Amino acid sequence: MSSEKQTVLVTGGAGYIGSHAVLALKESGYNVVILDNLVYGHRDIVENVLKVELIVGDTTDRELLDRLFAERDICAVMHFAAYIAVGESVAEPGKYYQNNVHGTLTLLEAMIAADIKRFVFSSTCAIYGVPKEIPLIETHPKTPLSPYASSKLMVEQILADFDIAYGLKSSIFRYFNASGAHPNAQLGEDHSPETHLIPLVLQAAMGRRDNIAIFGTDYDTPDGTCIRDYIHVCDLASAHVLGLEYLINGGETEAFNLGNGNGFSVREAIEVAKRVTNCEIAVVEKERRPGDATVLLGSAEKAKKLLGWNPKYPELSDIIAHAWQWHQVRHGDA
Ligand code: UFG
Repeated sequence: MSSEKQTVLVTGGAGYIGSHAVLALKESGYNVVILDNLVYGHRDIVENVLKVELIVGDTTDRELLDRLFAERDICAVMHFAAYIAVGESVAEPGKYYQNNVHGTLTLLEAMIAADIKRFVFSSTCAIYGVPKEIPLIETHPKTPLSPYASSKLMVEQILADFDIAYGLKSSIFRYFNASGAHPNAQLGEDHSPETHLIPLVLQAAMGRRDNIAIFGTDYDTPDGTCIRDYIHVCDLASAHVLGLEYLINGGETEAFNLGNGNGFSVREAIEVAKRVTNCEIAVVEKERRPGDATVLLGSAEKAKKLLGWNPKYPELSDIIAHAWQWHQVRHGDA
């Protein structure tokens, strides 16, 4: 990087993974501008913790994007803004295609018009569908099981076409189960409504909910519950900075899995949470949740080799400990 600070636009920078990426970018010497419609993002986090410029608006607003790009010297875009609830996407697919696909397409067209050709994209391991082989590698067939996952795969296809047509280069990251919080306890996961296992388990530990439901105990796994690959949000953030620098250094469009390659069942994750929090966590066994794959576990060898990515917090106990600190700071008065 030259001594002149480069500016990166981060869409969804007021959200969970985006906010951690903003901090990682700042720590690596970049200027950051956030575009976030604040439907799910948190203004207080931007103002009090991230302290960067916040533009409140939608990625579907072409006029806003054109103005934003004309007024600033943006070297790249990191795109986190998206709806993420798998179940909701099944019930309301139009909402997902409108925001996640049309919004991204509008953003990409504005970028091309402004001659900005580096894009870091937040994708998901959900695009693989039911795994044929574990660990999942990037070339595994793609058979998304929900409109959410389809919307992410569609964008990946658009990115391949925009590379051919316009030379737009992308680093695409397919996350496994993003979790944890910044060890500084100032950033973390705060979705409303919350659907993810670890924050819900911690809410139960804090007494903010009566119990944690286990969705399905008859899966073909050693303890009957689903197995997931939990990856620390700060490790996702560091991969995004590496993906950006890879593009700045002339890298080609590539997709990378981001996971630890260690599987934990729902019951195991709850046990780790009990140990870390030293709290009782009541469990109720429920029916399977529609659309859940039995095992999702990825190989991130490609990101390690090509980007030099090296996860700093691969242990689930650290991931949960950091999330626990954050929940206590954020919701300690509840
Ligand atoms: N689970 C429970 N009880 C709960 C919540 C979750 O038992 O109250 C189970 C789920 O059934 C699943 C596991 O915990 O087996 C993890 O569930 P999460 O909702 O935390 O995460 P998912 O694996 O369903 O989803 C995550 C991301 C999605 C992404 C998906 C890819 O949140 O955005 O991984 O599979 F699409």
